[in-house]
Amino acid sequence: MDKLVIEGGTRLEGEVAISGAKNAALPILCAALLSAESLVLTNVPELNDIGTMLKLLAQMGVKVEREGHRVSLDASGLNNPVAPYEMVKTMRASILVLGPLVARCGEAKVSLPGGCAIGARPVDQHIKGLQAMGAEIGVDHGYVNARTARLKGARLFTDMVTVTGTENLMMAACLANGETIIENAAREPEVVDLAQCLVAMGAQISGAGTDVIRIRGVERLHGAEHRIMPDRIETGTFLCAAAATGGDVRLIGTSTGYLDAVVDKLMDAGCDIVGEKTPNHEAIRLIAPKRLQAVSIRTSPYPAFPTDMQAQFMAINCVAEGTAVMRETIFENRFMHAVELIRLGADIKIDGNTAFVKGVARLQGATVMATDLRASASLVIAGLVAEGETHIERIYHLDRGYEHIEAKMTRLGARIRREQA
Ligand code: UD1
Repeated sequence: MDKLVIEGGTRLEGEVAISGAKNAALPILCAALLSAESLVLTNVPELNDIGTMLKLLAQMGVKVEREGHRVSLDASGLNNPVAPYEMVKTMRASILVLGPLVARCGEAKVSLPGGCAIGARPVDQHIKGLQAMGAEIGVDHGYVNARTARLKGARLFTDMVTVTGTENLMMAACLANGETIIENAAREPEVVDLAQCLVAMGAQISGAGTDVIRIRGVERLHGAEHRIMPDRIETGTFLCAAAATGGDVRLIGTSTGYLDAVVDKLMDAGCDIVGEKTPNHEAIRLIAPKRLQAVSIRTSPYPAFPTDMQAQFMAINCVAEGTAVMRETIFENRFMHAVELIRLGADIKIDGNTAFVKGVARLQGATVMATDLRASASLVIAGLVAEGETHIERIYHLDRGYEHIEAKMTRLGARIRREQA
């Protein structure tokens, strides 16, 4: 298994390009299931999760062609609406095939994702919504089995804000008979990107980006071409890495518009951040102070502070001036990086869903273990500011969600290398 070795103490400087968003690309790849014509996607990041999703779609009968960041999908030969456990267990987002399969094929058999490192993460809201649209759903032997003649439009209300739940139901509703209204919908930019792709395919959707989405079902969707939005979490992660090292970086191909809550907190911490717009591209420049101020956060659904940035902010708070109170409200078990950060010398106390982080003057390199995707990113940031070498094991989590992270960090001056353990 590969590991990353980071020699801390360099200031990040320079420019790096931000990749397409994993969490937009995954549902949009599944949207290809809704049409018998081809969907061409650009700016698709080269990530293990994307590879897993493409494999899953291919074994259902979708023709997949991938050339760098361009992927074309042709689901005219879709013949096997099944997502087996072996694939779903490695990537929870596989549940995103459920809605499109039921809508297009009238049946689907999708493994339940099961637990994951950051909590139980059930899919009851996805199931409840599809049932309200007329699907008959049974859960047998760990699989969700769904069947219906044609889905019917319905008024749906989710018990909590769920991102993939909203996306699954929005996709299913595109081919339903009549109008579907999703209330308490997720407002994440990735939901909007998916809606834009679906509209390009002929779907009738309004309200994406608000908490009420209306979808008027159509008989069929056609082919389209769509560019995946920039990854706001990768953007935020690089901003945090630059901030922690007292750096000065420009991130190309991304915009502050996607992450106001994160930018606000980094400015509270003492960074200067400006969005730049040229005729060719958008960019963000961050200039960090010598030492950051601790910033307290509370995670909540978009547009509030994202849970996917909590771990990275914990890393910067570890070396900031003062004490931060960090509250995680989305997932019940998302502080596993704290014990690893403590191994690097951080001063963190956890009480339920709250972490109290007291900044220390310096962290010290050690061997640590990545436990999930964003936790891994926090360890990279901590490694960049720690004295000496930090060895991060189990970095397959990072490869699921960060495109060429060590190459990009190296471009900014980090001393980081991959080693076979
Ligand atoms: C998505 C993101 C993930 C991010 C999360 C929250 C993708 C592929 N992943 O995950 O990176 O951390 O949003 O911003 O886009 N819940 C239920 N029942 C359900 C659905 C959700 O109880 O049927 C709960 C979850 O356990 C969690 C909360 O609702 O506590 C929010 O989860 P959700 O928004 O669904 O997360 P994902 O869509 O899985």
